Amino acid sequence: MSNLIAPSILAADFANLQRDIEMVNNSEADWFHIDIMDGVFVPNISFGMPVLKAITKHAKKTIDVHLMIVNPDQYIQTFADLGANILTVHYEACTHLDRTIQAIKMAGMKAGVALNPHTPIAVLEDVIEELDVVCIMSVNPGFGGQSFIGNTYKKVAQLKHLIEFTESKCLIEIDGGVTNLNANTLIEAGANVLVAGSYVFGSENPTETISDLKNIIQ
Ligand code: DX5
Ligand code: ZN
Repeated sequence: MSNLIAPSILAADFANLQRDIEMVNNSEADWFHIDIMDGVFVPNISFGMPVLKAITKHAKKTIDVHLMIVNPDQYIQTFADLGANILTVHYEACTHLDRTIQAIKMAGMKAGVALNPHTPIAVLEDVIEELDVVCIMSVNPGFGGQSFIGNTYKKVAQLKHLIEFTESKCLIEIDGGVTNLNANTLIEAGANVLVAGSYVFGSENPTETISDLKNIIQ
């Protein structure tokens, strides 16, 4: 399987959201990455349900929702109803992670877990076989446009090893600071999905930038 590209809508022009969504629809991108922040789990507030509803009305690709919120359990059904295909919660926000994963699946979505940069891969050993996606945060969550943390490469290799050892089918997603400078190394290390916000939407030709990321391995 070739690597998947998930442009992060956080970096889109919110005054021209439909235009940017159509750009992603017509590009080689695979997923829409949607960052939901509550100002509690992370020191920033992005957008909520009404905006997600507006996005899913136009988006024609997989909706990958990344919840950076406390108590994600209370909104699982809401995000399913809004059209999320993948729902990713933070390990650090879930006391009963196994229960949360089951609830996401019961609601008809694929289940993802995100790990902050300081959280080791080993905490997922006992749930890895239940997961569809593990999102390795390569920045501290809360803001777009931050610099990539180099320790991520080691974590990708460790996660790949765990996935192979357990024969899990889960995908490795990398989120934060992804550019042409690290994409190739990430894919070679085992990453399957690259999230890219400012690198895509801040570029002169976002469609071309998506294509470059998609075809990064020659
Ligand atoms: C950070 C978000 C990311 C962010 C990525 O908290 O989870 O998805 O939008 O943006 P860039 O690619 O600009 O680092
Ligand atoms: Zn994200």
